[in-house]
Amino acid sequence: MKNEGRPVLSDETQYWEERYRVADTPWNKGEGSPALVDFLASHPDLPRGAVAIPGCGFGHDVRLWAQAGFNAVGYDLAPSAVQACRRSTPAGLTATFEQGNFLIDAPPSPFDWVFEHTLYCAIQREARDSYAEAAARWLKPGGQLLAVHYLLPPDNPDGPPFGCTREEILARFGSRFELQSDWRPRSWPNREGLEHCFWWRRK
Ligand SMILES: C[S@@+](CC[C@H](N)C(=O)[O-])C[C@H]1O[C@@H](n2cnc3c(N)ncnc32)[C@H](O)[C@@H]1O
Repeated sequence: MKNEGRPVLSDETQYWEERYRVADTPWNKGEGSPALVDFLASHPDLPRGAVAIPGCGFGHDVRLWAQAGFNAVGYDLAPSAVQACRRSTPAGLTATFEQGNFLIDAPPSPFDWVFEHTLYCAIQREARDSYAEAAARWLKPGGQLLAVHYLLPPDNPDGPPFGCTREEILARFGSRFELQSDWRPRSWPNREGLEHCFWWRRK
């Protein structure tokens, strides 16, 4: 994936919409994140509430949260992604989908949880401070951020995904969030050892 011609820090809707339009979506595994499956199974007593899933792609993780009893709202920049999510989500599940820009938009009301999976590595490096700001803005005070990051060498030139390290993430989020734990999760064979979970609480 090349970054040629991609506008820096402008609205990137067109870029992502085109990826869906030509079916260039290699991140889609056709199922939810193994890290999230394990997290929800091993924390059955979490108080249920509202969870925002920005950059939700085809919505697999949104449906996992809803199946676990949360009110889950998936957001994505690409209208085609949102349409696909709506088509593939059964009625009766507490999962809804909206087109939006997580970095810029205000939440309809602050959430108890934000969950992300390969969004941080997908945005451009210059937008990373806005991302940390947005994560705090979308959460209630004391709200929780669960992130499954894709860690790659920091100088990885051709993104998305753009490289990031555990140290960078700890430094960027640490002023707004208190780290509860971080760990290496179960993952898909081609990402084994590259994903890392961070569970934060908003200060
Ligand atoms: C690498 S994909 C990951 C999709 C999904 N989370 C997954 O793991 O399958 C990144 C997604 O984030 C969306 N996206 C990029 N920038 C965004 C933004 N600022 N706000 C909301 N969605 C965004 C893209 O359209 C794309 O669907």
